[in-house]
Amino acid sequence: MNNIGAGIAIIGCGSAAPQNKLTNENLSRMVETSDEWITSRTGMKIRHIANETESLSQLSADAAQKAIADAGLSPIDIDLIILATSTPDDLFGSASKVQSLLGATRAAAFDLTAACSGFVFALITASQFIRTGVYQNVVVIGADVVSRWVDWSDRTTCVLFGDGAGAIVCQASQTGDRLLAFEMRSDGSQNGCLNLPYQSQSQSLVSGITAQSGAYQPIMMNGREVYRFAVAKVPEAIEKAMYRAGLVIEDIDWLLLHQANQRILDAVAKRLKLSPEKILSNIGEYGNTSAASIPLALDAALREGKVKPGDTIATAGFGAGLTWSAAIFKWG
Ligand code: ACO
Repeated sequence: MNNIGAGIAIIGCGSAAPQNKLTNENLSRMVETSDEWITSRTGMKIRHIANETESLSQLSADAAQKAIADAGLSPIDIDLIILATSTPDDLFGSASKVQSLLGATRAAAFDLTAACSGFVFALITASQFIRTGVYQNVVVIGADVVSRWVDWSDRTTCVLFGDGAGAIVCQASQTGDRLLAFEMRSDGSQNGCLNLPYQSQSQSLVSGITAQSGAYQPIMMNGREVYRFAVAKVPEAIEKAMYRAGLVIEDIDWLLLHQANQRILDAVAKRLKLSPEKILSNIGEYGNTSAASIPLALDAALREGKVKPGDTIATAGFGAGLTWSAAIFKWG
């Protein structure tokens, strides 16, 4: 409680993905599609699909454990865990289960639901707890097992999604703030573009009183609308965040977007007048992993030695809600 005004350093990263890989060839035997269509429209080749023993909680804990080790910390050092997910193992939340799997016994833990924007929303939320001096070490996890909610007979959505988890450790820092600026937005008037809707069935309890018992339906998406929305709103949000940070596009080392579609990544970079070499993408190997996609791509870029301490990263999430968010941070 004595750290008011602390800056934020992002000091560790880790990721985890299910073992089974579903290729474009596999999909072309399930629905009327082809490797050529999927590759040219999305850039995707492979997605990882969780089996019956791979839970959202375990994938999240595996990613978080690696991030905590990468930061040189122990689970007992962690004060708070924020789990960004839209596909928890339990609708009451999976963050506490992750806390227990990690042995992070001092940490409070909660879920945050903002679909594909979840990771950036969670990073921004974590930063508030650090800046107010409440917490020292916060783990932010983005994880989704979207394969549970895909209609595997719908070619317009089933080729897009995969499963995974990624995590970072944010730490209070007295030597400068590495989260330079952010922007968070929502537009519920476009909520119908992308849904995993609940469908209720009336169950009569006593005369005049019914309970609405039901079940969630598979993902429904208006792909074209979401595409248009992303290409228009994401550059705007990044530009706002850059302005607040006092930066220009030449100051950005890497563009780290939600990995929804290679064409969206390319179009956003083009609008920002950012060189294509600065786009971080692992879409070919993972598909769209919703809240997991940003930390998964960051972890891959760190392991490949692309992102280095001090690099300036522009990140942005976008998706269901509709929601979108951008943040500019320095790694390390
Ligand atoms: N294989 C072959 N043909 C297909 C497939 C497929 N898998 N899917 C659709 N088609 C067909 C359509 O039926 C259509 O045929 P028609 O012209 O005869 O009607 C044709 O291909 C073109 O379809 P479009 O939907 O216009 O294709 P588009 O070029 O827009 O690409 C895509 C579709 C890839 C979904 C794109 O719109 C997109 O990426 N949208 C954004 C998705 C996104 O960003 N989601 C992020 C959020 S996810 C979240 O928040 C959980």
